[in-house]
Amino acid sequence: MTTAVVVLAAGKGTRMHSRLPKVLHQAGGRSMLASVLKAAGDSGVAGQNTAVVAGYGIEAIRAALAGSEVEIVLQEPQLGTGHAVLCAQSWWKRHPQVIVVHGDMPLLSAATIGGLARARSESGAAAVLATAAPAEPRAYGRIVRDRERPERVLRIVEEKQATAEQLKIRELNAGFYCFETAALAEALAQLGTDNPHGEYYLTDTIALLAPRGVVAYPLEDDRECLGVNDRAELAELDSDLRRRKVAALLKAGVSVQLPDTVVVDPEVEVGEDTVIESGVQLLGATRIGAGCRIRAHSVVESASVEDGAIIGPFARLREGAVIGAGAHIGNFVEVKKSRIGKGSKANHLAYIGDAVVGERANIGAGTITCNYDGVHKHSTVIGDGAFIGSNSTLVAPVEIGAGAYVGAGSVITEEVPGDALGLGRARQAVKPGWAAARRQTVKRK
Ligand code: UD1
Ligand code: CA
Repeated sequence: MTTAVVVLAAGKGTRMHSRLPKVLHQAGGRSMLASVLKAAGDSGVAGQNTAVVAGYGIEAIRAALAGSEVEIVLQEPQLGTGHAVLCAQSWWKRHPQVIVVHGDMPLLSAATIGGLARARSESGAAAVLATAAPAEPRAYGRIVRDRERPERVLRIVEEKQATAEQLKIRELNAGFYCFETAALAEALAQLGTDNPHGEYYLTDTIALLAPRGVVAYPLEDDRECLGVNDRAELAELDSDLRRRKVAALLKAGVSVQLPDTVVVDPEVEVGEDTVIESGVQLLGATRIGAGCRIRAHSVVESASVEDGAIIGPFARLREGAVIGAGAHIGNFVEVKKSRIGKGSKANHLAYIGDAVVGERANIGAGTITCNYDGVHKHSTVIGDGAFIGSNSTLVAPVEIGAGAYVGAGSVITEEVPGDALGLGRARQAVKPGWAAARRQTVKRK
């Protein structure tokens, strides 16, 4: 059985006070929309086809999804969740069942999506809906069950329309459903707008479908249906997701100091026995090997660090940096799009960009690769065992041979062959007694 997945994402998210549509805001290193789409992708739902219903900021959503196979359906104007699903009808009705989820619930799991699809196809019910009974109150729709046969769901009552009695119901509508498409199409056609917002509520389809069977699917983790309405809630879910990622690393044999200060993006991989000190950020497609130490306040973005390397404190590795096994990149060293060979060291205050550094080389404090001429980027090659004296300026394209030395303070514009000494600085002059003589002249005046 093929299954359509529809993600509702047309709302503006007024309380975000943002030009960006709400679902494109990031939590845990991914947009909320990307998290929901990933859960759908990972759910293992067979023959799955996904569409996003967008309205506010649809251009930004198109740009964010460029290159993916996800269909984007316009909902304009936004007349409610039922209307949103209706807008995508020509797209989902080709499938026997459709999953509907909200794009602003980034904790939604793949297991829940898969579970809803299976529960629907196995039960033959017209609808299966996820429910939650969190300890804290939430302004969600209340699930009204049949008193005589409590396994049957009769309807969902939105908080604003609920009676005092219904408000006491602790079972809430999570906002994730799986519908049989033929039944859903019929129910949507009957929806009205008799409610305080004058909207078409998807939740009103439940009462219409109840005679054909509606089954509740209680969530194991009620946080899965935590939505985001403002930036405070976004920050809360962001820390939740960050904590989960760090917890996964801890479980996999990585030590993390002060875990709440560490930010690790979802795709990052870290090997066993690596220690991550406080305040570190590991971002993008970063890979850290085993037995490394990423010292305090280093930022690593889409870079690769091989086994046993030591990074930081206060180092910055940018996209395309590859740090070889056992290498040391120290404080205030920035490395971009460069390979640093095994056991090489750049311990203090350097910029290494578009460079290939061999093994066991020593890059002195203050070394700068001048990789940019204002128009193009050029590369610097530093051979095995080379020694670059402090405060050297290597004007690319340039090559320093294996075992060569560069004298401190040099500006190197030409190749330094292997085992040579390259010196490019003014010769020092010493004038004995000059300072004492000056002091005498100053006193006389
Ligand atoms: C909805 C449910 C409520 C449930 C709650 C869970 C309805 C009527 N109510 O309420 O029972 O407990 O979610 O969070 O469905 N959207 C569109 N187009 C629209 C309106 C909304 O795409 O015209 C999207 C929003 O962008 C959002 C999602 O649908 O991603 C939910 O809409 P929202 O207005 O937040 O619904 P709630 O009032 O929270
Ligand atoms: Ca909401």
